[in-house]
Amino acid sequence: MDHLFSPYQIKGLQLKNRVVMPPMCQYSVTNKDGIATDWHYVHYVSRAIGGASLIIIEMTDVEPDGRITDYDLGLWSDEHVPALKRIIDACHQHGAKVGIQIAHAGRKAQDAKEPVAPSAIPFDEKSKTPRALTTEEVKEMVEKFRLAAQRAIKAGVDVIELHGAHGYLIHQFTSAFTNKRTDEYGQELTKFGKEVIKAVKGEMPEDMPLIIRISGREYVEGGYGIDEAIEFSREFQKAGVDMFHISAGGEGPIAAEGRPGTHVAYQVPLARAIKQALNVPVIAVGRLDEPGLANSVIGNEDADLVAVGRAMLRNPYWALEAATILHKEILIPRQYDRGFPRR
Ligand SMILES: Cc1cc2nc3c(=O)[nH]c(=O)nc-3n(C[C@H](O)[C@H](O)[C@H](O)COP(=O)(O)O)c2cc1C
Repeated sequence: MDHLFSPYQIKGLQLKNRVVMPPMCQYSVTNKDGIATDWHYVHYVSRAIGGASLIIIEMTDVEPDGRITDYDLGLWSDEHVPALKRIIDACHQHGAKVGIQIAHAGRKAQDAKEPVAPSAIPFDEKSKTPRALTTEEVKEMVEKFRLAAQRAIKAGVDVIELHGAHGYLIHQFTSAFTNKRTDEYGQELTKFGKEVIKAVKGEMPEDMPLIIRISGREYVEGGYGIDEAIEFSREFQKAGVDMFHISAGGEGPIAAEGRPGTHVAYQVPLARAIKQALNVPVIAVGRLDEPGLANSVIGNEDADLVAVGRAMLRNPYWALEAATILHKEILIPRQYDRGFPRR
């Protein structure tokens, strides 16, 4: 029987359980140089000690103006590699596998003097109006993603996640709401995403899986729904994506009727729909804090992995505690053994 603490394998990636730490920006690069700090080291390594099988490092950007803020992580230079490698090596020592979310914020780059995007449409009335990338610049952007992936692999990641959700650059190209281009990247909304997928895949070892995080539905007035998400995901799958990480929204102001996240497991139906339609492994995320609930998502085959975000901010040892509550086997670090009495 599959459950939250059963092992899982996808291509060459072997996970000891189904608990994932999803990417969560820390806005903690105090030097504004994109280089990971001691905060990041403690933050990630604690969750490795805490029993998560896969840790996905936060949104890490392919160029300085691709950051949401100047305090975000970067992968636009070889200088970013050693600090990430130190974190990844330590997570490995504590039995976790590590991925990184490679991204560009596009029009949501708050600190960029002039953010770039598929089209010159601001996020809302308070945001800067972005400059539309030229066709040549879009092609250069694909190359920036490729180089970032190359550096991530040098840093020792086990898996790469592309950020195709939450209204960041890849999502901005995929969505008819933000992509009003008339060139080839507007005629085919998935073209940019597919080129990034193929470029990144070209850098990855054969047996390393590629994950893409998508928004399974949009929350803006007239935004796309799950049926459209299935269709573009099918294109991404054909281009080389091995696993989908299903979130939602983030593309713009939320429509009056669409207040998301008011129920536990609110994004699980989206994950299940993608899994069933494409026969592809998925990660479910979103208010899955309660161990019995997270376990049922695996047991009911709604998803293959479960990501636990905010609950892991509160408790880095969420996985150790969940396994204890569910009476499942997990290796408790010797030093912490007395904190987790077997019931
Ligand atoms: C502080 C914080 C930072 C986040 N940063 C990112 C990010 O870098 N990339 C991303 O895809 N999602 C990000 N998210 C969203 C989480 O990955 C997750 O999808 C969301 O919190 C819902 O899951 P939860 O209910 O388990 O927290 C962030 C969430 C939080 C709370």
